[in-house]
Amino acid sequence: MTSVPEHDVWGVYVHVPWCVAQCPYCAFAITPGAAAPDHRAWLDRLLWEHELRRPDFPGAPATVFFGGGTPSRLPPSAFAEALEAFRPVPGAEVSVEANPEDLDEAWVEGVLAAGVTRISIGVQTFDATVARRLGRARSAARAPEAVATVARLAPTFSVDLIFAVPGEPADRLRDDLRRVVDAGAPHLSVYGLTIEEGTRFERAVRGGRLVPVDDDRWREGYDTIVATARAAGLERYEVSNFARPGHASRHNRLYWTDAPYLGLGPSAHGYAPDGRRWSDHPDLATWLTADHPSAHEERPDPRARALDLLVSAMRCVEGLPLDRLGFALDPSVVDPLVRAGLVRRTGGRLQLTDAGFPVCDAVVARLADALTPQ
Ligand SMILES: C[S@@+](CC[C@H](N)C(=O)[O-])C[C@H]1O[C@@H](n2cnc3c(N)ncnc32)[C@H](O)[C@@H]1O
Ligand code: SF4
Repeated sequence: MTSVPEHDVWGVYVHVPWCVAQCPYCAFAITPGAAAPDHRAWLDRLLWEHELRRPDFPGAPATVFFGGGTPSRLPPSAFAEALEAFRPVPGAEVSVEANPEDLDEAWVEGVLAAGVTRISIGVQTFDATVARRLGRARSAARAPEAVATVARLAPTFSVDLIFAVPGEPADRLRDDLRRVVDAGAPHLSVYGLTIEEGTRFERAVRGGRLVPVDDDRWREGYDTIVATARAAGLERYEVSNFARPGHASRHNRLYWTDAPYLGLGPSAHGYAPDGRRWSDHPDLATWLTADHPSAHEERPDPRARALDLLVSAMRCVEGLPLDRLGFALDPSVVDPLVRAGLVRRTGGRLQLTDAGFPVCDAVVARLADALTPQ
């Protein structure tokens, strides 16, 4: 049997659905609109959903993460009201995702006073031309000032960048990383652009108007990120995440270590301590009015849970705790990966090596096929 998740440490995830417009690469469930969102009905429903799901979770949340969508489109009072209901443990990590164009001093001071402890800024790029291609011209124009304001005021923060953008200049990633390092960011998330189904970018790729970067360019970009981050004292703790000691995201770690999380809001996913998983209605209007917020619920079988653990744990430097898997891994698959220098066995764990991280997805796919009943 796969072991049940540890019950004592868990987090709350809140999905804030509004964005000014859908970025051409983004497949997240959002509600577009230039006007300031009327968030009252959403917040009332969120607090109701919290009451509904909260009895399944013991104690108090160790982390809260307001993601989106664009949480920075909400006034600080909305975070204060939600946090009053969630009552996280003293010293909890409370993160909020923010777009640069929303980040002025008053908003940052307001959310910090409301209980937020960490701001994750979705910069993506500082380069005006690349930003225009990503539909992020407004974000890039405001990014330097926004990062400086947050660096001055917040106890800790993160910057998100995207790399592997088709047609970008060769030095763009290096320049962006330099600016993040110079701003003193204690945490960096860098994701390679993925062509998601249903997006404008996907239609452009199908129509031959956009050519995704090839594997060599992707690898070059990833190696640049790792080397620059390391030189700046930002250690990789997950494939795409880098932090100074003490600044890794505690909330994201919960996802990667099989801990439960209470997901609230349209399209939010949740994982109860009893192993039940749910996903909420993605459409805001449906989520607001449905009899129950869940669009889908399931109790994954042991194999599905082992797969979830394998996929998420292998992405972290600590790797996969083999005793928690509940399955064996066929040595005829694992041994060649060890001999190839892509993974290592250390203290009951299977970990990616430096050579394994850039090919994480391929290694995980091989390991998934290697799961065998004990
Ligand atoms: C969904 S956004 C929400 C926060 C905020 N609205 C923003 O745009 O930064 C969170 C992160 O997802 C990443 N993201 C979204 N779509 C992506 C894609 N197709 N490829 C790579 N990263 C993506 C971006 O890096 C972004 O920082
Ligand atoms: S990338 Fe961020 S701002 Fe753009 S649509 Fe997605 S959630 Fe909204």
